[in-house]
Amino acid sequence: MTAQLIKGAEVAREIREELKKEIAELKAKHNVVPGLVTVLVGADPASQVYVGAKEKTSQELGIYSERYDLPEKTSQKELIALIDKLNKDPKINGILVQLPLPKHLNEGEVLYAIDPKKDVDGFHPVNVGKLMIGQPDYMPCTPAGIQQLLIHSGTQIEGAEVVVVGRSNIVGKPIANILLQKAPGANATVTICHTRTRDMTFHTRRADILIVAAGKPKYITADMVKEGVVVIDVGVNEIGRTAEGKRILCGDVDFETVKEKAKAITPVPGGVGPMTITMLMMNTVRAAKVAAGLT
Ligand SMILES: NC(=O)c1ccc[n+]([C@@H]2O[C@H](COP(=O)([O-])OP(=O)(O)OC[C@H]3O[C@@H](n4cnc5c(N)ncnc54)[C@H](OP(=O)(O)O)[C@@H]3O)[C@@H](O)[C@H]2O)c1
Repeated sequence: MTAQLIKGAEVAREIREELKKEIAELKAKHNVVPGLVTVLVGADPASQVYVGAKEKTSQELGIYSERYDLPEKTSQKELIALIDKLNKDPKINGILVQLPLPKHLNEGEVLYAIDPKKDVDGFHPVNVGKLMIGQPDYMPCTPAGIQQLLIHSGTQIEGAEVVVVGRSNIVGKPIANILLQKAPGANATVTICHTRTRDMTFHTRRADILIVAAGKPKYITADMVKEGVVVIDVGVNEIGRTAEGKRILCGDVDFETVKEKAKAITPVPGGVGPMTITMLMMNTVRAAKVAAGLT
């Protein structure tokens, strides 16, 4: 069996086209323009690329965008003061503080300072808690994108054995929580594995849907999965550079061998990655509609 490719780039394009129409309609009918601000502290090159991509996508879709590039030495007080100002700014519906922050800043306190109604990354404890109790407002973008990929690929989620490898707060735990909910596009039986899991292969071989977010290149091999599994590979690992200096990436799954056993699989790149920014845009549009009393 050679797996169906779950092409995140295509699903993302479809969702963005729909969002573009919705944004144009919001402006035409209600004079509402969703606004997203990105805040970057320091000059980490990868973060600059991510923030640039978010800004560019906002502009392509018709979302008003602002960007703050703050110096590395920005203090906690200065950053919180900026967030306070943005919390009160009616042009802004979504506030995204690019992580990771420089070491001297307290990430938890910064995320906590964002108004939960503008927390389009879904990392504020209020939004984390709402997801936990099955009343999500803003779901974290990467896990929300994974759920959309499963739905768009026609994967049977309800009743499925889902195994998640990784328990981070940004991917592993929230995707487990999303697929566990008694809700459409969910209702799965979910197992979460991590570095203290005793027998990883025992779990991964049981999975109907295997979601891997470990950050370990090609960690999941063909002998660890069963025939017909649907594999979502979240990992993004740089394993070298081309002669021109371009990054060579691979996922957490040994794509070439696992695709021979899987029913469907996401490639890296072009799988989960493109969905993350798309979900951010979706959350921003939702925040604008909520602020305008349109939902
Ligand atoms: N495509 C996207 O948009 C996107 C977004 C976010 C992340 N990512 C990628 O996804 C990967 C994971 O990101 P993350 O932020 O969730 O990573 P993270 O915070 O480093 O968490 C990794 C998790 O995987 C577990 N783990 C690591 N090695 C393991 C092993 N050998 N066996 C079992 N479990 C193992 C860790 O277990 P412990 O808790 O026991 O340490 C931890 O829970 C990274 O490659 C990242 O670049 C991609």
